[in-house]
Amino acid sequence: MARLVIVSNRTAAPRDRGARAGGLAVGLREALQKRGGLWFGWSGELREGDAGEPKTQEAGNILFATIPLTPADHDDFYVHYANGTLWPLCHYRLGLIEFRRSAYEGYLRVNRLFAEKLAPLLRPDDLIWIHDYHFFPLASALRALGVTNRMGFFLHIPLPAPEVLTALPRHRRLIADLCAYDLVGFQTGDDLQSFTSYIERETAGTLDPRGTFRAFGRCGEAAAFPIGIDTATFAELSEQAADSAQTRRLHESLAGRRLVIGVDRLDYSKGIPQRMEAFQTLLEAYPEHRGRVTYMQIAPISRGEVEEYQALRRDLEGWVGRINGRFGEYDWAPVRYLNKAFPRQALAGFFRQAAVGLVTPLRDGMNLVAKEYVAAQDPADPGVLVLSRFAGAARAMPQALIVNPFDVEEIGDAVHLALTMPLAERRARWNEMMAELRRNTIQSWCESFVERLAGADTDEQAA
Ligand code: G6P
Repeated sequence: MARLVIVSNRTAAPRDRGARAGGLAVGLREALQKRGGLWFGWSGELREGDAGEPKTQEAGNILFATIPLTPADHDDFYVHYANGTLWPLCHYRLGLIEFRRSAYEGYLRVNRLFAEKLAPLLRPDDLIWIHDYHFFPLASALRALGVTNRMGFFLHIPLPAPEVLTALPRHRRLIADLCAYDLVGFQTGDDLQSFTSYIERETAGTLDPRGTFRAFGRCGEAAAFPIGIDTATFAELSEQAADSAQTRRLHESLAGRRLVIGVDRLDYSKGIPQRMEAFQTLLEAYPEHRGRVTYMQIAPISRGEVEEYQALRRDLEGWVGRINGRFGEYDWAPVRYLNKAFPRQALAGFFRQAAVGLVTPLRDGMNLVAKEYVAAQDPADPGVLVLSRFAGAARAMPQALIVNPFDVEEIGDAVHLALTMPLAERRARWNEMMAELRRNTIQSWCESFVERLAGADTDEQAA
């Protein structure tokens, strides 16, 4: 079996400062553990001068190799281009895009740096799987160094429709870079459709119904691989957490009130201000919930270096202050707002406590919080998920209360409906969502991508 090489900006190296122990990291680690593999990425450090040899660290069957970035590279690559240009573009926020040539040059420079540092670690039959918008040009950079391995790319965020994508200066280069991969994976059929439309409208290339594209002098495959979670493990975690000290503390603090929960990185794509306004609308339109419902928004600070994120933080502080000032009582704060992250086990317990999970991004590739909220519910008395139609997860879970995240009154109504939904209906909706989450897990996602990258499908076709 060929070795698997994963590249992502953040790795899950045990002692890496950039590590995230999220569900995705756990899933990828499992895949690497099974086949044996290398995980290459940024060490989380900023250091002047040459990056030097990658720092390596072994954990079982996995070798982690990471490199630092210079402050200037980090600024151009991560702050300004990946998160100041590509992130808003892919989340349909054209008004927030900044484009600077110097940042774009820095983005290409860091991709070349990653290619140079990774190439010597590669073996001829390695399967290389590159992740997310930080590394669109990495296959091109590796191929320029003579690397001929099979390379796959998975975009965790949306690919916008051509009308939006073409607003990016040098958009052709971005798509040409995508076409340098042998396999390009998207979260949903909509993202795949954006790619197809772009190839058809903007290039002389073709894409057949099986997903084989021919464009920019290259041939590869593109398909949707909707990402899942480790459903069984998360459900177990929440069952164990049901009686943990933290969950009990939360329960007691609620003093009999129902809990509405939101958990997101503090990001403008998540629609958190709209959600705050929706909660205000709920309290205005349905006064019976005043004093009886608490909305807890967990929102760890993210990308604090990027200006838009600082503005969002100020905006949210205003919202929380206004709602609590207007509706609060001496023994009830309607909104609890926490700028910190919690371990998965704690979150699993919090989700299980919550009668309503509010997941209302304005755009989201998939949104795994929506899936984790469902997996964490008590089968005998499940809560209700209120879910944005613009999250990839809405495709897999149409039994959630699907809302338009721009319509705050609709969200308010949905929360009311969720709080008053009869048990039988809650169970019926939950059972269907859970069946889907058990079918499509993080493990099956990894396997299907890697098998397709290994060429399993191509062989089948040939046979
Ligand atoms: C999203 C992106 C990931 C990214 C994560 C955290 O989920 O798709 O690639 O790692 O956000 O963002 P950060 O900028 O802190 O890495």
